[in-house]
Amino acid sequence: MADIPQLIDFSAAALDDAFASLRAEIKHAVAEPGFDADAFRLEWLGRKQGRLKQIGDAWLKTAPAEAKKLLGQRFNLLKEDIESAFSAAESGSAKSTSGTLDPTLPGASQRLGAEHPLIRTSAEIVSVFQRLGYSVALGPEVETDFYNFESLNFPPNHPARDTQDTLVLADQQSKPENARLLMRTHTSPVQIRSMLEQAPPLRLVIPGKVHRNEAADATHSPVFHQVEGLCVDTHITFSDLKGTLDHAMKALFGSSVKTRFFPSFFPFTEPSADVQISCIFCGGKGCRKCKHSGWIELLGCGMVDAAVFHAVNQRRIELGREPVYDTEKISGFAFGMGVDRIAMMKYGISDIGLLYSGDMRFLEQFA
Ligand code: DAH
Repeated sequence: MADIPQLIDFSAAALDDAFASLRAEIKHAVAEPGFDADAFRLEWLGRKQGRLKQIGDAWLKTAPAEAKKLLGQRFNLLKEDIESAFSAAESGSAKSTSGTLDPTLPGASQRLGAEHPLIRTSAEIVSVFQRLGYSVALGPEVETDFYNFESLNFPPNHPARDTQDTLVLADQQSKPENARLLMRTHTSPVQIRSMLEQAPPLRLVIPGKVHRNEAADATHSPVFHQVEGLCVDTHITFSDLKGTLDHAMKALFGSSVKTRFFPSFFPFTEPSADVQISCIFCGGKGCRKCKHSGWIELLGCGMVDAAVFHAVNQRRIELGREPVYDTEKISGFAFGMGVDRIAMMKYGISDIGLLYSGDMRFLEQFA
């Protein structure tokens, strides 16, 4: 048993010194290679012969009455410190059953995480456009009615504005309609946010999470993901849109994939189109996946509607910025696609819910 340190001066400062050197001694013992937890416990914390007990008895015996309280407090703190250093040392070291460190045992291994299939797919789509010179823009998931709908030329009674589809935040009734908060139903509001911040020319891809008030089933989820695109410059035509998307679909699904464009409607593009790709499962011959049509509908697109540029200019003026989206000089196209559907097609996933369940048996397949 080591000697019991003598204590003559019982001032608070002297006590602090004495306890600091006890702490150092303990720290040293715990960090010793081959630290033996059981032996340490017996030597330091044993109730009759333990060093702490002996030091405590010796110091309390000689301490003047007014120092006993100071001593007691410091002993309690020290005991707590020892307990926590002790349990940290116990849980941190790989130990054999006898309690001594066995360096031949394998260390505690940390399993590597893997990219979620949705993030991976989204990043893949984004990188196709980055290689064409597009930059990435992001926006908030909680949006105002102005950005999500009004500035995108949604008439007041458009079905997508309907509270059936849109998750609105509570307690917004006292605000003017266009200031009310909602969960964005698409990534298109980031088109507006970007044009308020930047002057043309503009080439942007906008990945993100969107929300709709929809019942979940094998192909619907109230939370899903989109990648939006926006290109604004001089002399941008529908041919540019077709060429860009045809290239993107070939880059994503293989060079033999064909695209075709059907007239469609979106309030913020005119003309608008739905884009179909030749079925990646049957090569266009017709199968169950494409409902025997040979084609799969994949995204919406169109030429940016003049009303959108006007809304942007209007808001830029309100913000004290130049209304630089002059429809006499510039034009643009936009597109939006669902990441979840593309991921499901690429990886053969039949239930969208698997992408949100956090089930490791599913996710591990993508590691
Ligand atoms: N925002 C549309 C939706 O969620 C998708 C879309 C269609 C985006 C056409 C576009 C576009 O940018 O031009 O249904």
